[in-house]
Amino acid sequence: MQKEIDMLDVQKIREDFPILKREVNGKPLVYFDNAATSQTPQVVIDAIVDYYSNYNANIHRGVHTLSQEATDAYEIARKKVQNHFNAAHPHEIILTSGTTHSINIVATGFTNLLTKGDEIIVSALEHHSNIVPWQMLCERTGAILKVIPMNEEGELLMDVYDQLLSKKTKLVFTNHISNALGTINPIEKIINKAHQVGAAVLIDGAQSCPHIKPNIQELDVDFYVASAHKLCGPTGVGLLYGKEEWLNKLPPYQGGGEMIDQVTFEKTTYAGLPHKFEAGTPNICGGIAFGVALDYMNGIGFDAIAEYEKELLDYGTQQLLEIEGLKIYGTSKNKTSVISFNIGAIHPYDIGSIVDKLGVAVRTGHHCAQPIMDFYKIPGTIRASFSFYNTKEEIDILVAALKKATMMLS
Ligand code: ALA
Repeated sequence: MQKEIDMLDVQKIREDFPILKREVNGKPLVYFDNAATSQTPQVVIDAIVDYYSNYNANIHRGVHTLSQEATDAYEIARKKVQNHFNAAHPHEIILTSGTTHSINIVATGFTNLLTKGDEIIVSALEHHSNIVPWQMLCERTGAILKVIPMNEEGELLMDVYDQLLSKKTKLVFTNHISNALGTINPIEKIINKAHQVGAAVLIDGAQSCPHIKPNIQELDVDFYVASAHKLCGPTGVGLLYGKEEWLNKLPPYQGGGEMIDQVTFEKTTYAGLPHKFEAGTPNICGGIAFGVALDYMNGIGFDAIAEYEKELLDYGTQQLLEIEGLKIYGTSKNKTSVISFNIGAIHPYDIGSIVDKLGVAVRTGHHCAQPIMDFYKIPGTIRASFSFYNTKEEIDILVAALKKATMMLS
């Protein structure tokens, strides 16, 4: 175990992230809001500067050198995304503005593929972005939304899932990891069982992709979505993976430039994959930087990342539970380095504000997962989410800050 951690060389890794050197309110920054967005290594910042300094141009449009260089770099990035997630073809990777955009492409695309009385299943652990687009789809089609419930530990009740599945089930959606609680869902089982009744499955990998490298072909998933900014990449870019047959079945999401084959005033025909879903000028720089971020993360290695983050999770859980009155929400054995908690009856926002004064960044609130908060009958939690560049010393600073906040607020 110690060997793996040495292999990771956290102090050296921290040097890659300029932001980790800054102070907040006169204290060294302790950044524990990684589930909201990860920090950006210098190599990704350099890629962004290089693009705008040297080859900023629109892609797939020009014969001039800059346009060709930008097009090549963008398409190389798409291949990097394909390889990282192990999709069968580069054209199955649609570069989007992020997870929410990707989910909306699929949810809108199914409008004409569902009829009244069809059923779609989501999990109780979803982020609003994996609930609301499906509710809107149900409103448009008359389909019925069913929910896989959760238990007190924050785990899905898989026996209820079995009962919900039927020939009427057309789609199943779940995240791989809950952003609010950190639970790792049994997506292999979820996908297999859905396929047995002929339903398609979308996996939201926004929270899992920083911790686990998925193998899309092995999972045999129909759609997979994620965002670059959780993976040390920039904001405003993400991916929609879809099996070729599904992407061919879905209509375009937006009309515009580059998604067409022929346009006349009488009729327009559409481009093939992936361009059919990439109307307008994309986030070119973001896409290129996404590829660089994947190279960076793979250079560190996802096995080493997972092992080190498990150490942080175990240490953090143990230390936080030493604080009187602290209750953790989401206690599955199968969870990632996210700890959601409250201390007594103190409002999470009050604690978050005080620890910020001490340089510690945590997220507070419902985490865009109000149904989970309703299940626990709480308005929200304080969430500390750890990344591979965090340290145990930083966890000690968080614990001291929480103790101070609790004293001030009790
Ligand atoms: N979905 C992100 C989070 O959990 C923003 O904080």
